[in-house]
Amino acid sequence: MCGIIGYIGHRRASEVLLHGLSQVEYRGYDSAGMVVSSGHGMRLIKDKGKLRDIHAKHNFLQLEGGIGLGHTRWATHGEPCERNSHPHSDCLGKVAVVHNGIIENHRVLKEELVGKGHRFTSDTDTEVVAHLVEEGLKSGADAPAAVKKAVARLEGTYALGILIAGENRLFLARRHAPLIIGRGKKDEMFFASDIPALLGYTRDFILLNEGDIAQLDSRGAIIWGADGKEAVRPPLHVNWTPQMAQKDGHDYFMIKEILEQPLTLASAVSADVTGGVKLLKSAKYPAIVACGTSYYAALVMQFLLHKAGRPASAYIGSEYASWRMRGEDLVVAISQSGETADTLTAVRLAKEDGAKVLAITNVVGSTLSREADATIYIGVGPEVGVVATKTFTGQLAVIYKLVYTMNGNKAGLEELAAMPSHMQKMLDEVQGQVKQLAALMAKRKNFFFISRGAGWPCALEAALKLKEITYLHAEAYAAGELKHGPISMLEDKVPVIAIAPSGPLAAKMESNIRECKARGASMIVLSDDKSLLQEGEYALSMPAVSEDLVPLFYILPMQLLAYYMTLELGRDPDQPRNLAKSVTVE
Ligand code: F6R
Repeated sequence: MCGIIGYIGHRRASEVLLHGLSQVEYRGYDSAGMVVSSGHGMRLIKDKGKLRDIHAKHNFLQLEGGIGLGHTRWATHGEPCERNSHPHSDCLGKVAVVHNGIIENHRVLKEELVGKGHRFTSDTDTEVVAHLVEEGLKSGADAPAAVKKAVARLEGTYALGILIAGENRLFLARRHAPLIIGRGKKDEMFFASDIPALLGYTRDFILLNEGDIAQLDSRGAIIWGADGKEAVRPPLHVNWTPQMAQKDGHDYFMIKEILEQPLTLASAVSADVTGGVKLLKSAKYPAIVACGTSYYAALVMQFLLHKAGRPASAYIGSEYASWRMRGEDLVVAISQSGETADTLTAVRLAKEDGAKVLAITNVVGSTLSREADATIYIGVGPEVGVVATKTFTGQLAVIYKLVYTMNGNKAGLEELAAMPSHMQKMLDEVQGQVKQLAALMAKRKNFFFISRGAGWPCALEAALKLKEITYLHAEAYAAGELKHGPISMLEDKVPVIAIAPSGPLAAKMESNIRECKARGASMIVLSDDKSLLQEGEYALSMPAVSEDLVPLFYILPMQLLAYYMTLELGRDPDQPRNLAKSVTVE
């Protein structure tokens, strides 16, 4: 969701903020802004639109001073426009606030503040925070006390950055929304919603707990825990480099991240799964919770566990509360960001019921990893494209390793270890063909993806990839389900993409493909089986892999198809409309 960055130190704050905000653009946003304070007071620039356009129009770098806050907004309360963009200020223009999350009691607070004579200028929930701090200052409290008093009134979720004119310090607070402190080399401190925002300046971070409030000056941080007492929080050194968050000569992050999957897979395959195996072995009834793409990885995990004769259920994070059994003794939470609100809520519910938590995530120090009993890091480096690509295959790799290690499936582990080089070979072979196919498909409007067994989550993920970046209609079905309804939508030239590997399910897939052809569909068949490939109007020949590994392998050409079709349509694959990289609201 929103991206936040704060800086205090010897550099021009506007430069640091602009750079940091450009590094969190991938989170998705519709407006941006910054506030900088100097000896001459506090100045603010904000507007609707993309960072580079706002900068071209207003020139952020004209803001002078060494203390500031920056923000990219993904609208929740109030349409995207200049007055709803962050930072928000109080009546006197002396307090500026940036916020990620939702202040759930903002209506009550606003009424109370309006009653006291405060004038509001936006439709946002955030603005109440600036006025609450103003009230505290008015009542004679010093800056830290006014901030603490204001934060104590808030209900909901927040990562907050607060700047008060004339104060040589910044304030921040977090509750159920990501926020980390960065320690500069000499006399400078940072904070941000995201590690990549600060990689250009530091790799040394301090992790905040839920409910923490902190004060930063250029020399360091003072942190107060939820109990109000001063607290020490753990340092974190990350080995991500700024280059890992660059495009490496590619036009978009998405294609860079698709093509680097043989490498990132090798790294995910070497993840330490020991803690996870221990938890999984001792669990009687594991639940697997996740959202979006990560949920499709959860389905693959359920598939593998069932195949191994182990009970397990995969739940969509936001549905866990309604569908759970309440006997789950382990919750496996899969989330690339480790910050997805729906997944975290499910984890907290399961914990209340006594379940242990195993996290599978990419982000060291994320909220999920800190609330878990054990964490397996997929270790694929920062994923900057909004849509998940290498984190999906990274999650799958870790899931295979976890389940195969638990079962002592040596052959499975060997096949998995050989995957990175097979994947590279396959990418080399299919990339050009998929690009040509994308050019042919970009004018079609409706797409169906079908498969069976372990291929079905892959079909679901392929359809999600296509719709989220091309904005075209795409649906995925277990192939046998077509005849129970959706087949009525098939007419001449509707593309149906069949993920149809050889093996025990191939004969039934062949029948399903024929059913579609009989209704005039344009069949695109992905298979290692020659006779199945011949059924396709278009065919992508794939190498043979075991059934378990189908989602890991077959998703790559599907990611490429979505990417190249998006380019054909002239859209931006890295920042699709309405989407955010980490979804921190329920
Ligand atoms: C799709 C995508 C989303 C995420 C979902 C969960 O490309 O990225 O569907 O998979 O929002 O996010 P995480 O994995 O961070 O919990």
